[in-house]
Amino acid sequence: MKSYIVEGGHCLKGEVSVSGSKNAALPIIAATLLNRGISTLYHVPKIHDTKIMLEILEILGCQIHINSDKIVIDSSKVDRYEIPECLMREMRSSVILAGAIIGRYKRARFSYPGGCDIGARPIDLHLEAFKKMGIEIEEESGFIHCSCDKITGAEIALDFPSVGATENIILAAVLAEGKTVIKNAAMEPEIIDLQNFLNEMGACVSGAGTKEIEIIGVSELHQVTYKVMPDRIEAGTLLCAAAITGGDVVIKEVNTDHLTPVIHKLEECGCEFQIFPEELYIKAPQRLKAVDIKTMPYPGFPTDMQSIFSSILTNAKGTSVIIENIFENRYKYTSELKRMGAKITIEGKTAVIKGVKKLSGTSVNSTDLRGGAALVIAGLVAKGETKINHIEYILRGYENLDEKLRKLGANIRKEEGE
Ligand code: UD1
Repeated sequence: MKSYIVEGGHCLKGEVSVSGSKNAALPIIAATLLNRGISTLYHVPKIHDTKIMLEILEILGCQIHINSDKIVIDSSKVDRYEIPECLMREMRSSVILAGAIIGRYKRARFSYPGGCDIGARPIDLHLEAFKKMGIEIEEESGFIHCSCDKITGAEIALDFPSVGATENIILAAVLAEGKTVIKNAAMEPEIIDLQNFLNEMGACVSGAGTKEIEIIGVSELHQVTYKVMPDRIEAGTLLCAAAITGGDVVIKEVNTDHLTPVIHKLEECGCEFQIFPEELYIKAPQRLKAVDIKTMPYPGFPTDMQSIFSSILTNAKGTSVIIENIFENRYKYTSELKRMGAKITIEGKTAVIKGVKKLSGTSVNSTDLRGGAALVIAGLVAKGETKINHIEYILRGYENLDEKLRKLGANIRKEEGE
């Protein structure tokens, strides 16, 4: 078990750069299967989830060379269409490979995906959409087998703007026959990044970032070089770290447009900003003010920032009400925050947080990726030392979080336990 030990009470100051986006990099890596050739990617974060995604591609037959910030993936010799169960269980996003593998092979075999335990996370929307595109689905003993003679473009109206389902449909549609239209598509910036990547390799995708996406199938794709967009959730996490410590921080290499809902809430909390297109300066007050939050699909407040924001509200002045609308089980981390002295009550999808003057350091357990990050943020201001256990969850999605926080003046170290 690996842990972080954080000593509270250090005000963050200085400059820090944001890594490439996890949620953009994962579908883009999956999409490299489609071009039967070479894809060169830059700015892929070096985290556990991208490592697993690359491992799966290697098992499928891709040749991969990593040289510092550059990853070269050669998918010309891919000869398997089955995702190994153990790796599928490691990471929910591996389901994104289904659309890419089917797009390439007209067949795919995989088990139900794993990932963070933040809710049921079904894949019914993905499978329904595949069926509409002429793909037959058979389910047997936890395995899903997809096959078809050809993929045909279809009009698909999603019941909910699922990010993963939108991406999977796009990936399956790129080499399909005819036109696919996705209505009520997810509008997240990571989908625009996927569209840009696919179009750079010869696909014909338009409308990403709006509710309606159109994909006109093409017969082949070509070699591509692409730089992944900055990680808006990592940027938001660093902003919250600055905010809770009363800090004064510049966040660099970021797309500030993607952070609008988070910036607005931090302003409501009393933080001041100077905003440039790729750089952001935050100055936080001595004590934040309480605010209310409802998570929503983009451009609403991101569910991935819910735990991290709740963490900074635990010692804000006043009472905050949080409503989690996306995942039904995303408050597990609150029992750990309570061990640090936070006053939080949960009822269904609502959390009520009464700000306390001081949290106190103790030993706590990460429950999921963002919940783990929330505990690190709380540790930055807690009295004494906070030991955050099971940081394997955090390492799935954050590249060098401890190093970045240290650069800003935090006292945090990693401990490798048994
Ligand atoms: C992606 C992000 C994740 C983020 C989430 C919501 C990646 C790798 N992960 O996850 O960080 O928190 O978007 O912004 O990009 N649903 C169904 N049936 C389906 C699919 C989804 O009911 O077939 C439900 C889910 O249970 C959930 C909601 O839709 O309640 C949102 O899920 P979705 O947008 O699909 O999230 P992911 O793509 O899994």
